[in-house]
Amino acid sequence: MSSGYVLSDEVLDHKINEPAYSKKSSYKAEKSLNDLDLFTKGQPVDFYKELRDNAPIYFHDPMPTDPEPGYWVLTRHEDIKHVSMNPKIFSSQYATGNLLTLGTEENRHPKLFKSTIDHMLNLDGEMHLGLRKEHMPFFKPGYVEDLQKKVTIKVGQLLDQIAPMGECNLVKEVSQQLPIYTLSEILGIPEADRQKLVSWMEFLELAQYFAVEQIKQQNEGITDSSPDPAMIELFNSMVDEMFDYGKHILLKKRKNPEDDLLSAIANAKIEGEELTQEFLDGSWLLIVFAGNDTTRNTMSGGIKLLHDNQDQKELLINNPDYLPNFINETVRCVSPVIHMRRTSLEETEINGQRIGPYEKIALWYGAANRDPEIFDDPDRFNILRENADKHLAFGIGRHTCLGKPVALMQLKEFYSQFLARFPDFEMNGEWKVAPNNFVHAIQEMPIKFSPKS
Ligand code: HEM
Repeated sequence: MSSGYVLSDEVLDHKINEPAYSKKSSYKAEKSLNDLDLFTKGQPVDFYKELRDNAPIYFHDPMPTDPEPGYWVLTRHEDIKHVSMNPKIFSSQYATGNLLTLGTEENRHPKLFKSTIDHMLNLDGEMHLGLRKEHMPFFKPGYVEDLQKKVTIKVGQLLDQIAPMGECNLVKEVSQQLPIYTLSEILGIPEADRQKLVSWMEFLELAQYFAVEQIKQQNEGITDSSPDPAMIELFNSMVDEMFDYGKHILLKKRKNPEDDLLSAIANAKIEGEELTQEFLDGSWLLIVFAGNDTTRNTMSGGIKLLHDNQDQKELLINNPDYLPNFINETVRCVSPVIHMRRTSLEETEINGQRIGPYEKIALWYGAANRDPEIFDDPDRFNILRENADKHLAFGIGRHTCLGKPVALMQLKEFYSQFLARFPDFEMNGEWKVAPNNFVHAIQEMPIKFSPKS
């Protein structure tokens, strides 16, 4: 990475092509994966099945106001694995590894837009490996084992706080608190600043919704369903605050490095050059979002799965040894990262569909994780499933989730202590899921249980 390298500038010059070859399937779905409301009742698993059965490689309409052509939707496990394992053909860098649309210039949030691009998830080749290597020491077994001791204590404290209540919103009291604590320990964020991360996360989960609503307002004017303008203002000020804080702490750690991940990022040198401010902003956004949101939503999602499957709950409570497989099965069913994206760099073929260069391809992990070719009776939540760990929720290949060991460790600590202390828990009302087709964002999970003093 040469001095001054800013990926977000480069990406804007990259053109996406219409499909070069005729579509193997002429199937036209009535529903759209661009409809964010579709994701507020959990992942649209029936729609995934419809696409997998009728058009496993389906050409989808573009996201709203996307000036580019649409995108190929992959729903089969094997196809998603194939694309993820061939990064020389399917690039994360050419037009990002995560954004389904770059949008039009007037619809881009000035700060969020660039920062969603300038980080390692969107790099290929040596630059990606170099930056990933800088993060690695904080995800190695020895480090995670030490971290686990602190996490055990933290889980105990969080559960002590809810024990006398008898009911609570699990997201607010526990699921959003634990990953913030763990990540802050890894990053080296002072205790006094940690609650700020909780509020930033809530707004970031709504980023997609605000973006789409602002586009609607430009086209249709303000309607009854438009979000309160004060809310949009608050969203923008939260985003500014989050980046100002990231800039401040990263520059502090560049000057006075400590033994933490933010110091490693702040002082990372790729090809001999320090990261640009854009890459510092982007790396901050990536780690804060990736490290929090995913684990938090898996924690809450697993509670709903246990509530909805009482036989499995009983089985687990009576057999704590099943916990690791229960966690794999939970991650499979929740699939908290809904999709990632790649761009073809050359002529290729996926499952018999010919694809030309520079076409957009989206990997729908929740669909792959319910592919009946891999998972028997895929919609059944089965904590004894023998191949539950074959899910693709953490991705696969060079960009495989770096935080996987930290996520699994937190999930283990949380569920083991929670189930031992509150075996009679039940859901106490409806859950609330944010309108978002990138992350499965559970914002409310009301539960009740026998209070304990
Ligand atoms: C259940 C929890 C989690 C899930 C399901 C998850 C899922 C994912 C997925 C799907 C990817 C992208 C894979 C790809 O594009 O091929 C990813 C990348 C990443 N995740 Fe996670 N994640 C989780 C937890 C975490 C945690 C706890 C951290 C950090 C503390 C983290 C940090 C990262 C980072 C840094 C990357 C980028 C890796 C790269 O580009 O090389 N994740 N994760």
